Amino acid sequence: MGKMLKILSLVLVSLALVFGTGIEADAKKKKKKIELTEKENALFDKWEVKPKKRAKAVKDMRKKPKFVGAVKCNGSCHDAYYQAWTKSPHGGTYNLLKPGERKEAKLRVKLDPEKDYTTTPLCLRCHTTGYRQKGGFKPAGSKSKKGKDTATKIDPEEPNKEQVGCEMCHSVAGGSQFRAVMKSSKGNFTKAESEPYGQRWDYSNVCTRCHTHKNTPFQPEVHDKYKFNFEERKLKVHKIADYWNEDNADQKLEKKDDRAKEEGQTEKTPLVIEDFKINDKGKLKFKKGTKPYNSKKKTFKYK
Ligand code: HEC
Ligand code: HEC
Ligand code: HEC
Repeated sequence: MGKMLKILSLVLVSLALVFGTGIEADAKKKKKKIELTEKENALFDKWEVKPKKRAKAVKDMRKKPKFVGAVKCNGSCHDAYYQAWTKSPHGGTYNLLKPGERKEAKLRVKLDPEKDYTTTPLCLRCHTTGYRQKGGFKPAGSKSKKGKDTATKIDPEEPNKEQVGCEMCHSVAGGSQFRAVMKSSKGNFTKAESEPYGQRWDYSNVCTRCHTHKNTPFQPEVHDKYKFNFEERKLKVHKIADYWNEDNADQKLEKKDDRAKEEGQTEKTPLVIEDFKINDKGKLKFKKGTKPYNSKKKTFKYK
C-alpha cells in the first residue's frame, strides 16, 4: 500500500514538473512576443518586409543606439566606401597620435612629438569612433569593474573603431539602429525614415564636431591649412570612384539621387555639437545639454 502511494506521488510530482514548467515556458514566450505599432507596420509595408522578418528587425530598431564600427559597413553593403575610407584621411586618424608622427605639426601647437597620445582622452574624442559612448572605442588599459581587460582590439589590416569611422559623420550616437533600417529597407528608405533611428544628414554641421571645434589644437589661426571650407573638403571624404568592381557593383545606391532631392530634419535644423572637457580625474565629460541625442527620452536636440 505504502509503495503504491509512493509511486502515485512520484507520478504526480513528475506530472506537475512537466506541465508546470511547460506553462511557465509558454508564459515566457508570450511575454517575449513583440507587438508592432501601426507606424512600424506601415514602414515595413512600404519596404516590403515579410511579416516573419519584422519582429527581429523591430527589436534591433528599438534598442538603444550604439557604435558598431566601420568594419560592419564592409563585406556586403558599402565595400567601396569602406575600402576608400581606409585610404582616406579619416581612416588613419588614430595613427597620428603615435610618437614620431607629424612631428612638425605637433611642435607647432606645443604638443610633444615623442609622446604617445593613443590613450589621451582629449585626443581620442576626435581621432577615434564613439569614445566614451556606448559601443565606442576603448583605449589600451581600459578595464571593467571586475578588472577584466575591455580595450578595443586593433587590427592594423582592418581599420575600425580606433579611427574616425562612418558613424562619426553619419550617426548621432552610433549606427546600430539605422543599420537595421538600411538592411530591412534594402536601401529603399528616405531621410525622414532614417532620422528617428539616429542617422544624420547635416554633413556641413557634423564636421565641426572636430574641425574648427574650440577643443582642437589645430585651429585656423595656427595655420592656413586648418581653415575649413566644407564644399572643398567634402570632395576628399569619399573618393570611391576607383573602388567599384564586379563583386560590389550591386551595391551602388539606387536611391541616392532621390534622397539627395529630399531635405532631412537635420538639414533644416542641424543638431547641437557636443562640447566636452577633461575633468579633475582626467576623464572626458560631455557638457550638459550638448549631446544631440537623449537615448533615455529618445529625443533629439537641435541648435
Ligand atoms: C576637437 C577635436 C580634436 C581634438 C580634441 C584633437 N584633435 Fe587632432 N585633429 C583634429 C582635426 C579636425 C584635425 C585635422 C585638421 C585639418 O587638417 O584641418 C586634426 C589633426 C591632427 C594632426 C595632424 C596635423 C597636421 O597638420 O598634420 C595631429 C598630429 C593631431 N591632430 C594630433 C592630436 C593630438 C595629439 C591631440 C590630443 C592632444 C589631438 N589631436 C586632439 C581634431 C582634434
Ligand atoms: C568625415 C565624415 C565621413 C565619414 C568618416 C564617412 N562619411 Fe559617408 N558621407 C559623408 C558625406 C559628407 C557624404 C555626402 C557627400 C558624398 O557623398 O560624398 C557621405 C555620403 C555617404 C553615402 C551616400 C549616402 C546617400 O544615400 O546619399 C554613403 C553610403 C556613405 N557616406 C557611407 C559611408 C561609410 C560606409 C563610411 C565608413 C566606411 C563613411 N560613409 C564614412 C561623410 C562621411
Ligand atoms: C570625429 C572627428 C572628425 C569629424 C567629425 C570630421 N573630421 Fe575631417 N579630419 C579629422 C582628423 C583628425 C583629420 C586629420 C587627418 C590627417 O591629417 O591625416 C581630418 C582630416 C580631414 C581632411 C584631410 C585634410 C587634408 O589636408 O588632407 C578632410 C578633407 C576632412 N577631414 C574633411 C572632413 C569633412 C568634410 C567632414 C564633415 C563631413 C569631416 N572631415 C569631419 C577629424 C574629423
